[in-house]
Amino acid sequence: MMTSRVLSGVQPTGNLHLGNYLGAIKQWVDIQGSYECLFCIVDLHAITVPQDPKYLTESTLDTAAAYIACGIDPETSVIFNQSRIAGHCELAWILGTMTPLGWLNRMTQFKEKAGKHKDQSGLGLYGYPVLMAADILLYHATHVPVGEDQKQHLELTRDIAGAFNRQYDREYFTLPEPLIAGPATRVMSLRDGTKKMSKSDESEYSRIHLSDDSDTIAKKFKKAKSDMHEGITHDPDNRPEATNLINIYAAITGKTHEQVCQEVESMGFSQFKTLLSDAVIEHLGPITTTYRQLTDDKAYLQSLLDKGAENAAALAEKNIKQIKEIVGFVV
Ligand code: TYM
Repeated sequence: MMTSRVLSGVQPTGNLHLGNYLGAIKQWVDIQGSYECLFCIVDLHAITVPQDPKYLTESTLDTAAAYIACGIDPETSVIFNQSRIAGHCELAWILGTMTPLGWLNRMTQFKEKAGKHKDQSGLGLYGYPVLMAADILLYHATHVPVGEDQKQHLELTRDIAGAFNRQYDREYFTLPEPLIAGPATRVMSLRDGTKKMSKSDESEYSRIHLSDDSDTIAKKFKKAKSDMHEGITHDPDNRPEATNLINIYAAITGKTHEQVCQEVESMGFSQFKTLLSDAVIEHLGPITTTYRQLTDDKAYLQSLLDKGAENAAALAEKNIKQIKEIVGFVV
């Protein structure tokens, strides 16, 4: 039987936020016992927009610390940084030769990131989804747990895998399945319920960081945008802010939307925000404490990434050799 293998990753571009946690990392923790797991820190993706080298190094180690603090077990899951394994770039080049520009032109994330300055954007930013496909296919991952914003990139990964199989006339790559699960697959900004919670939002008040202390979390929820309706209801079209807070509360407490709606329907925003912020503070407290301890231990984090790179390389080198042989390279 084929191994069910998970691969997922986060960019080391700053403090992780509640969206990264509820949309992705919390799902990883929940499934890590059921799959063989590889969790990557995608530093090659990070440099598709300019990065300060010192900050990138620090952020890579901090992201490894966050994975462990959130509950990833480094004894059973492989934690590694992408740039250590040459196969990611090699496979991205091969896959790039069979990815039509028309497919890349559809990617909404590129359109959002490049904005009006498309012609000034780098090739790396444009080819970003091909590298992501390479991350997944290099390890023959069968399942990819991500937040909803990555769905289009996963569909493209499946298309690219199919293009490779057709070109070389064999069912070499299995098409990976996205795992987009939980009540908060798209966590929205606390300042605007129609915008995704994101690292790049100018306002610190738009997001909760995993490193925020209790007072900061309470303050951010207090200032979170509300609306003029009575009670608290789940109504994505008309009440995006209330809906977002309900989704966050459900994901943090493990309750269903229905249970939460019953619990909070007669509350006002102020009472609900206090309930929510207390639950988030309680849940994130131990994560933040462990995170702070681990980020102080750079030697441990470095050794963890050394070991992760060794384990990832064992799989990647075998697969890239096979892929090169299929392509016809002399290896
Ligand atoms: P990145 O670094 O933007 O985000 C990491 C993970 O967090 C999820 N996420 C969210 N989920 C819910 N609500 C939000 N507001 C929110 N913001 C972020 C993302 O969906 C993602 O799962 N391209 C990827 C990284 C990547 C990758 C891969 C992922 C590179 N190679 C291979 C899976 C497999 C990205 O930029 O994620």
